[in-house]
This record gives sequence, structure tokens and C-alpha cells, in this order.
Amino acid sequence: MTDDVNSGRRRLLTTVTTGVGLAGATALAVPLVASMKPSARAVAAGAPVEVDIEDLAPGKMKVIEWRGKPVWILRRDEQTLADLEEIVGELSDPDSEVIEQQPAYAQNRHRSIRPDVLVVLGVCTHLGCAPTKEFEKGASTGLGDDWMGGFFCPCHGSKFDLSGRVYKNVPAPTNLVVPPHSYVTENRILIGVDETEATG
Ligand code: FES
Repeated sequence: MTDDVNSGRRRLLTTVTTGVGLAGATALAVPLVASMKPSARAVAAGAPVEVDIEDLAPGKMKVIEWRGKPVWILRRDEQTLADLEEIVGELSDPDSEVIEQQPAYAQNRHRSIRPDVLVVLGVCTHLGCAPTKEFEKGASTGLGDDWMGGFFCPCHGSKFDLSGRVYKNVPAPTNLVVPPHSYVTENRILIGVDETEATG
């Protein structure tokens, strides 16, 4: 499983789109996101990136590149959303009160416009390493008896939940950053354009 996680991290760093099951230990590759309209040069310059999430099933995650950084798009099911409420006492900023870490429309417990879809930068807020996906629950993960699934930064041990909220007593000071984004349609997200800009 460690090799899978590490290879997934390498894929993330080279900005390849992947699909990973929440409950499964095996990473599943998914096709590249065909809806990335701008050219590679435009993307590098910071152009918005449109992503189709129609095929993103509950428990799956896509990774795309925006402004040279990985953006994670995770579909959460009802159980995952319920679990997020169970661990608020273990988190540094469960209500996302550090306003720089997300747009106003993501300043809520699920840190997203739609509760089921998380959009967050896959960059640790300590020193910028790439956290790994640790979606299995429980003590077998080595992340604590009450681990509910989330992300783990191997550089210095920071832990984040499935909303990108940072745990207490780890080096990372803040929650993962939610980038500006908006919905073009029900299943198409525009990364890089705020909901408020998109709606006027
Ligand atoms: S860079 Fe992630 S814990 Fe230090």
C-alpha cells in the first residue's frame, strides 16, 4: 500500500489526473480530464481550468493542475459528511475561521459550495509538501484509532481531514487552501474563477 501511495504522490507532482477510492487501498488510474480547455501554456500562466465531474463517483477524487499546483476534487458521500462532524474537537480550525484559507462561499464545515464536492489545493500549509491520500479509517493506518480518513503529509506529519481541515498539534498551521472556483453547470467546475464573479 505504501508503494501505491508514493506512486500516487509522484503522479500528483507531475500533474496527472488520478482516481482513488476512499475505502479501497488500491489507487485506480482514471483517464485524463478531457475538459481542460486552455492550452498547457495558458494553464501555466494561470488561466481558469474547466473540469467535468459528471463521472466522479462518491468516494473518488480527481487531480488537475491549476497555476502549477495540484487541485484535488473529491466527491464525498453522506457517511463521509457525517464523519466530518464527529472530529471537530480534534481540529485546529473546524469552522474555517482563518479567512485567507478559502473564499467566503467555502467558509463552512464542508469547506465547499456543494457539500458533496470538495475542491482544495493539494499543498501542505506547513512547507508546501504534497500530502498523501489516506482514505482508509482506523488504527491500521497508523494515524490513530479514531482516524476517519483524510490526508497525511509525510514531510513532518501534518494531518488533514476530508475537508482539508488541519488537525491540532501538527506542524501545519492552517487548513488546506480552497482555490477560487465556480460551477458552470451542475457537473462542470471552473477552477480559478470565483463563484461571485461567475454569478456577477
Ligand atoms: S510540509 Fe507538510 S508537514 Fe511540513
